Amino acid sequence: TGAGITWQLSGPRTLGATIRSAARLPEPFILPGAVPSTLAPERVDAAGDHYRIVQRRAVREILPGYRTEIWGYNGEFPGPTIRARSGRPALVTHRNELAVPTVAHLHGGHTPAESDGYPTDYVHPSQERLYTYPHQQAAATLWYHDHRMDFSGPSVWRGLAGFHLIGDEEEDGLGLPSGERDLPLLLCDRAFDAAGQLVYPAVDPTAQHSPGVTGDYMQGVQGDVVLVNGVPWPRYDVASVRYRLRWLNGSNARVYRLRFDGPHRTAPGFVQIGSDGGLLDAPQHLDALDMAPGERVDTIVDLTGYRPGDEVTVVNDLGEGRTVEVLRLRVTRTEPDTSRIPDHLARIERFDPKSAVRRRDLHFHMGEMPQMTGMSGDSEAKGWLIDDRPFDPDRTDLTVRLGEWEIWRLTANFNHPVHVHLNPFQVLSRNGREPLPSDRGWKDTVHLPAGQALELAIRFTGYTGRFMLHCHNLEHEDMAMMANLAVTQ
Ligand code: C2O
Ligand code: CU
Ligand code: CU
Repeated sequence: TGAGITWQLSGPRTLGATIRSAARLPEPFILPGAVPSTLAPERVDAAGDHYRIVQRRAVREILPGYRTEIWGYNGEFPGPTIRARSGRPALVTHRNELAVPTVAHLHGGHTPAESDGYPTDYVHPSQERLYTYPHQQAAATLWYHDHRMDFSGPSVWRGLAGFHLIGDEEEDGLGLPSGERDLPLLLCDRAFDAAGQLVYPAVDPTAQHSPGVTGDYMQGVQGDVVLVNGVPWPRYDVASVRYRLRWLNGSNARVYRLRFDGPHRTAPGFVQIGSDGGLLDAPQHLDALDMAPGERVDTIVDLTGYRPGDEVTVVNDLGEGRTVEVLRLRVTRTEPDTSRIPDHLARIERFDPKSAVRRRDLHFHMGEMPQMTGMSGDSEAKGWLIDDRPFDPDRTDLTVRLGEWEIWRLTANFNHPVHVHLNPFQVLSRNGREPLPSDRGWKDTVHLPAGQALELAIRFTGYTGRFMLHCHNLEHEDMAMMANLAVTQ
């Protein structure tokens, strides 16, 4: 596919540290697949649905035979799924029972600034914060995760991530697979030490020097265990029906190319129906899904015509060693299916280039850090920069006006998944050519490989205040690859 060619030219993989687990790892496709729990509102009233989430440590059996300490929303990993409705607010109180400050961010949320989870809007240990999500946005697959300044990487690695799904009437009318056949899948890689504990080099300095770690963790932290909804290489027992699989790359730094590799028959392939910001205008058939950290791909996988005993396996073409394997679907039963994949999904407002009022260039690169204090060693000179500057919470980097379309041209000399808060965007071109199939629809995170120039159209709506854009490689983000965005009247 076109996607494959473009990425191969510049190398889509993250070049960061890969940590080899010392724990005993299970064989692939043995452990039963998991579905995150759904969070019930504590209270429902005229203001909206009130939820309560406690961020705390918990012990889970992730690898068979080991007890792993995680940090979880309600002690779960992934956190519980919030299923919300467009136009109906959710009021989510997060209580922090961890020993460190946290920040909860709703990724993809059209959220007022005070609830957006700015990296220094800390919820300190033993404190609570109320986040209000008005949900003035279309049906979409969102996720929530920690966004603490300088520490999002280790916090998410330890488990602070979960789904937040928004539904609406337009989507209800489509007849897509629903209920148990609507399956959110949080994909991430992790590594475990000999005692079965999560290893993260930046918070565990001894791990950097262990023989299991190769590469530079400043470029990104990768593990050798693929987890889907917290389960290593799971096997889902399914019916011979259509499933809606909502993929989220919740990894810190790993990029995936997912593909079906069925041992028994020809693979079903993916029908993409949505991306970060909601449904596409029309479905598209894809043999492979390219996913950088933070991106979501909403798909239908059609298993009608398969018989009990058939199996299909999802593999990662960009993996190495055990990260090539992802999950398996094993058909165990036949069931009726009345779902559909309509030819038209959602109405998407097309950006008209004539309406752009401003053009901007944003360059993402590794370069000299200006006047850094308190740092020592080799990392002193170099850092991750946007337009030559590391993040400074006190500096406004871009000022945009509500309702104005802008064209942004992003360039990079390393691979960066670029994410913008508040509003999604449309990808206009890559290197002056047509965008990739994976760029379709409303995106809020987009993979910007080294050497590419990517143009996007963006417009901010609804709320003024301080928002941000940043690299969603969480190690780059933690090492200051963020910029402040002031949205004004
Ligand atoms: Cu998913 Cu600002 O992040
Ligand atoms: Cu976000
Ligand atoms: Cu980056």
